[in-house]
Amino acid sequence: MNLLQFALLVAPLALKAEAFFRMECQGRVALGRIDPIVSPGEPALHVHSIHGSSGISMHATYDDLRNGQCTSCRVTQDKSAYWHPSMYFQDGETGEFELVEQVGGMLAYYQFHLDNLTAFPAGFRMIAGNSNRRNWSTWDLTQPDPPADQWYSKGLTTQESLGERSMGFNCLNYAGNPEPTLYRHTIPDKAFIDANCPNGIRTEITFPSCWNGKDLGSEDHRSHMAYPDMLRAGQCPDDFPVHMPTMLFETVWNVKAFNGRNGRFVMANGDSLGWGYHGDFMTGWDEDFLQQALDTCTANSGNILDCPIFDIISEEEARECTMEVPSILSTEDVEGPLRSLPGNVPIIYEDGTKEYGGDAPVEDSPVPSLAPNPITSEIAIVLPEPVPTSEALPEIQPDFNAAVDLVSSEAFPEPEFPETTWAPEPPAEPTKSFYSTQVVTEGDKVSVIYWDEEVVYVTEYYDSTTTVTVAPSAHADSVAKRHLHGHIHHRRHHG
Ligand SMILES: *[C@@H]1O[C@H](CO)[C@@H](O)[C@H](O)[C@H]1NC(C)=O
Ligand SMILES: *[C@@H]1O[C@H](CO)[C@@H](O)[C@H](O)[C@H]1NC(C)=O
Repeated sequence: MNLLQFALLVAPLALKAEAFFRMECQGRVALGRIDPIVSPGEPALHVHSIHGSSGISMHATYDDLRNGQCTSCRVTQDKSAYWHPSMYFQDGETGEFELVEQVGGMLAYYQFHLDNLTAFPAGFRMIAGNSNRRNWSTWDLTQPDPPADQWYSKGLTTQESLGERSMGFNCLNYAGNPEPTLYRHTIPDKAFIDANCPNGIRTEITFPSCWNGKDLGSEDHRSHMAYPDMLRAGQCPDDFPVHMPTMLFETVWNVKAFNGRNGRFVMANGDSLGWGYHGDFMTGWDEDFLQQALDTCTANSGNILDCPIFDIISEEEARECTMEVPSILSTEDVEGPLRSLPGNVPIIYEDGTKEYGGDAPVEDSPVPSLAPNPITSEIAIVLPEPVPTSEALPEIQPDFNAAVDLVSSEAFPEPEFPETTWAPEPPAEPTKSFYSTQVVTEGDKVSVIYWDEEVVYVTEYYDSTTTVTVAPSAHADSVAKRHLHGHIHHRRHHG
């Protein structure tokens, strides 16, 4: 049965665009066991990659962040702190751990999926994900998530279920079709990564955006917040009426450096599966300023340069910003090879069993996973003007020094389904608007893919020496020497 029907539409861009800006944090202020939310005043349980204000410390407060001398993100007014577990490779023979290189810092997306956005108030902090989670309950991991407009009918709008689908492990292959953001919810096994992900693994975590309007934090650092019923868009639960920007962290890891070696990838919190991935955020914005940004930075390019009130520093300057590592941690080796994960963190499996590294050979522990490249084969990218195939899908050489230029993306497409795996439903008319982009930049080539909920699929290619995102529409025309659109509407066909 052919589930999909495609129609080519050659038309000007007419996207239901939603605004967002992409905070570029090329610098990492620290790598270490620091976590002022969960472990204030003491070494954190596991190693984090930390970005943002140099005012971060084991006990940092909002004022400390505001008073930081610099930020490793590119907008000087943003003194927030962003952190997430680092990735390690565990050697299969020795059981020892080596830090995986983090490519280009991280990106923190501020997406305007909800209306009437309220700025994070002074002192606000939150965690997305749960470091202790090692299981999964709400969806068949060998299948892509169903479209968001079916989540309710399938029972997938509980906070537990949304949380399980808030993270992604994107398999990057710039020569192939990109995977959508949040497509793959587990760390693929090593053999899969070696075979399919030459440009790295991009870890992704989505934060809840519905606030209870009262608490700056909570005991578990989560329960003052909730996800809207489509994770990033949709309705907030009644007790969480205040809309905040949707925050999404993205970090690229150079797994290719371990290609061919026997072993596996584990996160610093002892998670080889991926379900314990998480992100931490402490606002360091002036509340009024952030409100102004939410009200006025309404470009849909995501480009911080398109927000006139932001003062932007160079990537180089962002990279120079570092924190003062506390003496108790200054001698801790977090790069390895190490007999155990820093903090002596055990690897904990789905059944609760624990394993400490360094003693014995380890085996990869594959979990159900998706096939690569969800949009291959069934969709041919058709461009309105004839172009050589090699240009339609540019061959991109990875440059792991090129930082965030390499890739910055987000997407929320309707996934493709290999075969029917659940009972067909009556066709649902899209009711919500999603808009997102996937951007790949290398050298003088920038490709941008735009998605909206009808899965309007657009590919644009530019010759450009700039490394920033190229916006759609007339704005982009002015910088493009060559400018091609492919524009495909495809909808699910039920039959
Ligand atoms: C998942 O793990 C949690 C503890 O982290 C446990 O309470 C729950 O029962 C587990 N669920 C399943 C389906 O195994
Ligand atoms: C916008 O959000 C604020 C803060 O939650 C709320 O007080 C106000 O009623 C909202 N306005 C609209 C039009 O929804």
